[in-house]
Amino acid sequence: MQCSFLEQSDQQVCAILTLMQEPSIPFFVGVDIGTTAVRCVVGEMAGDATQPSIIGFSEVENSGMRKGNVAHAEEIVQALVSAVNEAERTSGRTIKSATINVNGSHVQGLNSKGVIAISSANREISVDDRARVEEAATIVQLPANKDIIQVFAKNYRVDGQDNIKDPVGMHGVRLEVDTHIVLAATPALKNLEQVLERAEVRPSHRTVSGLAAAEAVLDRKQKESGALVVDIGAGTTNLTVIEDGEVEHVAVIPMGGMHVTNDLAIGLKTELEIAEMVKIKHATLHAKADGETSLVKDGQQYHFDRSLMRMIVSARMEELFEFIDKELKRIHRSKKLPGGVVLVGGGSQLPGLIDFAKEELQLPVRLGKWESLPIVVDNIKGPRYATAVGLMLLDMLLGPAAVYDDVQPGFMQTLKGSASSILKRIKK
Ligand SMILES: Nc1ncnc2c1ncn2[C@@H]1O[C@H](COP(=O)(O)OP(=O)(O)OP(=O)(O)O)[C@@H](O)[C@H]1O
Ligand SMILES: [Mg+2]
Repeated sequence: MQCSFLEQSDQQVCAILTLMQEPSIPFFVGVDIGTTAVRCVVGEMAGDATQPSIIGFSEVENSGMRKGNVAHAEEIVQALVSAVNEAERTSGRTIKSATINVNGSHVQGLNSKGVIAISSANREISVDDRARVEEAATIVQLPANKDIIQVFAKNYRVDGQDNIKDPVGMHGVRLEVDTHIVLAATPALKNLEQVLERAEVRPSHRTVSGLAAAEAVLDRKQKESGALVVDIGAGTTNLTVIEDGEVEHVAVIPMGGMHVTNDLAIGLKTELEIAEMVKIKHATLHAKADGETSLVKDGQQYHFDRSLMRMIVSARMEELFEFIDKELKRIHRSKKLPGGVVLVGGGSQLPGLIDFAKEELQLPVRLGKWESLPIVVDNIKGPRYATAVGLMLLDMLLGPAAVYDDVQPGFMQTLKGSASSILKRIKK
């Protein structure tokens, strides 16, 4: 817009109009609906940037979830609305849609195969054939009341030749695919759909928490060599194994930091609130924890035995890591992940947990870091934001809402047919 011939005040108006006319920088939103908090992260990809900058975020206490499931819808709606409003305020963007997580012990992974015949005259495999075989893999006998939320193609075979990452352009008669399908309980998805509708947040994509966290904290090498991301939340622990750049396994264990707090409340004979406080301030898995520790609340002093605390916390953590190793055994990866284990989530902040996990799993373990992204806002740091940051990254990588198969209406739609293209973009 040419403004040079205008008066100064008119020039200011003109400058505003020019700004309004400029194509806005694309932005992406991830919303992590967790048991203790709703976290919303806004990222934007400016000009020639190679990665998005975090331009807004929010964290609002949530008391409406139980173990990743909707328990009190109204409380979640309120938390969601506040989180979105706050993220809009810090980022200066209007949020209408976001990539969101699906969590809870009802989430489960399932391996499935698809087979089709290539019928074109020259037997060349097309993009359509790839979509067809992936869809064939989703035609499985689902457990009662379960829906498919994601489909990951792990490996293709053409006329029996194995380990093909992308069959498009190859020639053959028979095309097969091995997929990992993620299922979630239909009622849980419906409840989540209603909460999002009431909060006026359109889910552009939905994914399991662990996969989002993996996107934020794993580098390409780890995704290729095989790594496990463990998101230790309050009510759940999310597991995602990525190997050869593909999702190998997804599982949710209904156990998290809240169980440690409950155990402390019982073992130390104190209130839950005090148990949570003493856990955050003084709990540790370091062997040298002994003597007494104390804290003051509302003018009252509480004393606790440190070695008793350590015993209580390590017993629960041992149980959790036994479940994790059991999942790895199910897929023959126990003690066999060269990319190691990456811990995220609030529960991963327990002092001494890294060494404890190394011992329990006999694998390299580190804390997940996503802070290499440029961050414009203050106060967002640490492993508990990994899932929300990963959801924002997936919002960017997956692009605008997928064209869903319309067999199942609304939020219940699956990613049938588009899984492969989605995966290709996730891998980059
Ligand atoms: N320093 C700490 N030491 C031990 N535990 C901690 C620490 N900080 C936070 N936690 C625990 O982390 C848990 C919260 O983690 P997070 O915020 O990732 O959960 P969430 O996403 O709300 O829950 P979920 O993923 O299960 O739905 C709480 O149980 C809290 O007590
Ligand atoms: Mg969480």
